[in-house]
Amino acid sequence: MAPITGPLSGEAKSTVAECLQGTLVDLVDLSLVAKQMHWNIVGTNFRSVHLQLDELVALAREHADTVAERAAALGVNPDGRSSTLAKSTKLAQPENGWIEDGKVVATIADILDGIGRRLRERIEATDEPDPATQDILIAIAQDIDKERWMFQAQR
Ligand SMILES: [Fe+2]
Repeated sequence: MAPITGPLSGEAKSTVAECLQGTLVDLVDLSLVAKQMHWNIVGTNFRSVHLQLDELVALAREHADTVAERAAALGVNPDGRSSTLAKSTKLAQPENGWIEDGKVVATIADILDGIGRRLRERIEATDEPDPATQDILIAIAQDIDKERWMFQAQR
């Protein structure tokens, strides 16, 4: 039985659960895609982008943990299984093999743009049912916007 209670129930709870789960999938897959590119990038900007990608991985992992634990605190099970990610991710998957630095930068910028847009939808959706969750999503959106800017600026 579920021993974890929380302030939400019914439709409010399911709305917030959906927003948190979608954000968790975005962030965990962001950490995987960024690592894949960290390992496979080639080109004259190798070093700076290689290092920048690891900063992005660290950020994605930290926020993923916050989101998952927010879900748990509300009595909602976070699902970060690889099978769930594979089924539900909205992130473009990198090709297998070496990837040119310019393509890495463009792909990551696009991925961050998509995550930022989905976060905005979730910020709207959580406004009424749970401002505390909305606050977490707003903080994440600020960081994702900043990362998007820093990748776009290298295009
Ligand atoms: Fe590394």
